[in-house]
Amino acid sequence: MAVREIVTIGDPVLRERAREVAVDELRSPEVQGLIDDLIETRRAANGAGLAANQVGETARVAVAEVERTNPRYPYKPPIPLTVMVNPLIEPVDDETFEVNEGCLSVPDLRGYLERHARIRVRYLDRDGEEHDEIRSGLTAGTFQHEVDHLDGVLFVDRADPRTLSTWEHYERHQRAEFEERAHAIVRRYGS
Ligand code: NI
Repeated sequence: MAVREIVTIGDPVLRERAREVAVDELRSPEVQGLIDDLIETRRAANGAGLAANQVGETARVAVAEVERTNPRYPYKPPIPLTVMVNPLIEPVDDETFEVNEGCLSVPDLRGYLERHARIRVRYLDRDGEEHDEIRSGLTAGTFQHEVDHLDGVLFVDRADPRTLSTWEHYERHQRAEFEERAHAIVRRYGS
């Protein structure tokens, strides 16, 4: 296992659509090693998730995990470690909410965008077991953010550009109001 370098916006790999991983390939040391590296790299960087493109690989593998106290995203409900291979997301209904996001591959920028409030997510775990789950609220947003990466999409593509801010200005001008909103999202949708 290794902490890998996280590539940043402008690197073409972030704009590639990652390719599906075959089940026998999933069992290979290369893909299992990539999964270990994604887990370790996310933990070292305090992200809420990490997708393969962000370490320069174009396989459809992403991880999501939020500890009880995540220093970057203190308002997010915990997410147990989830390894997603070939994830598919579809919205459950038309409801959306506005959320402020950041990204390890977009240094020092946050912004507001819309996410589906409830999603169905299907994926294989690292053992090839199939999962079919409903996720909602901020956790659904995190899953959408990670699967976007596998499609070459970054949160800035979806953000209202007038809301973009550095983390310092987020802290100064947006954080208090957004954390109120985030708590309301958690109360309304759970996770
Ligand atoms: Ni990201």
